[in-house]
Amino acid sequence: MSTEYIIPQHVAIIMDGNGRWAKRRGLPRTMGHAQGAKVVEQILEDADHMGVRYLTVYAFSTENWSRPDNEVKALMNLLRTYMKTSLVKCAKNNVCIRVIGERSMLDPDLQESITHLENETRNNTGIHFQIAINYGGRDEIARAARKAAMKAFDAAQAAGELSRSYFAQVLDECMSIEGLNAQLDTAGLPDPDLLIRTCGEERISNFLLWQIAYSELYFTDAAWPDFTKQELEKAIEAYNHRDRKYGGLKEEKA
Ligand code: IPE
Ligand code: IPE
Ligand code: MG
Repeated sequence: MSTEYIIPQHVAIIMDGNGRWAKRRGLPRTMGHAQGAKVVEQILEDADHMGVRYLTVYAFSTENWSRPDNEVKALMNLLRTYMKTSLVKCAKNNVCIRVIGERSMLDPDLQESITHLENETRNNTGIHFQIAINYGGRDEIARAARKAAMKAFDAAQAAGELSRSYFAQVLDECMSIEGLNAQLDTAGLPDPDLLIRTCGEERISNFLLWQIAYSELYFTDAAWPDFTKQELEKAIEAYNHRDRKYGGLKEEKA
């Protein structure tokens, strides 16, 4: 086995435990989210300095709407603030931002600041930072399938061929693994190498279901607001002890 230390190209994080962190301190859950938001900014910088090229964080799931109104509002306000205040920092640190998830359900002003931030940072060549908002893996795959099917229909119509057999042929291309991949919110990004979940829970909770097919999973007891550069280093250290085989056989060096 090679002894070279590898920094994963793409790290994804399920930032969990804000509520428990706050509760332990006798604080409202929303204070945990506020602290968690600060940690995201720090970890983005740390990951960048360590050489991670893509960082994707789970900020709000399609299921998180079921939380009490005041908590949903507080989370949306934190996201609002982030979109507005991070422009200068992103320019300085050369960060390219992409929001993944179904954004049409977000308030129009939030949608606008997301689009603005994405457009302003589009050509930045530093770390690629993906924020998952109103994101669900199943929702993303369903939307991608719909887009791919529409594309197939358009292609068949353009060719003036609406026969079942011709349509099946176009579908083979549009709805192949590559075809569907191209319609995902993460189109063009490499799959995560390492997926981290904080605060002791060992589940995926509808995050990046398609993309984590061969990601290495790492779970830590640290709550997200307590997550530090050292925690990230520990996760990457653990990653370096994994043997990624992708269904093949381990490479034996002579
Ligand atoms: C993660 O922390 C943040 C979001 C899900 C938005 P939680 O709010 O889930 O914290 P716990 O799991 O209740 O402690
Ligand atoms: C996953 O955490 C969603 C985010 C981190 C945004 P949850 O706290 O919502 O997940 P469950 O409910 O524990 O599975
Ligand atoms: Mg949670």
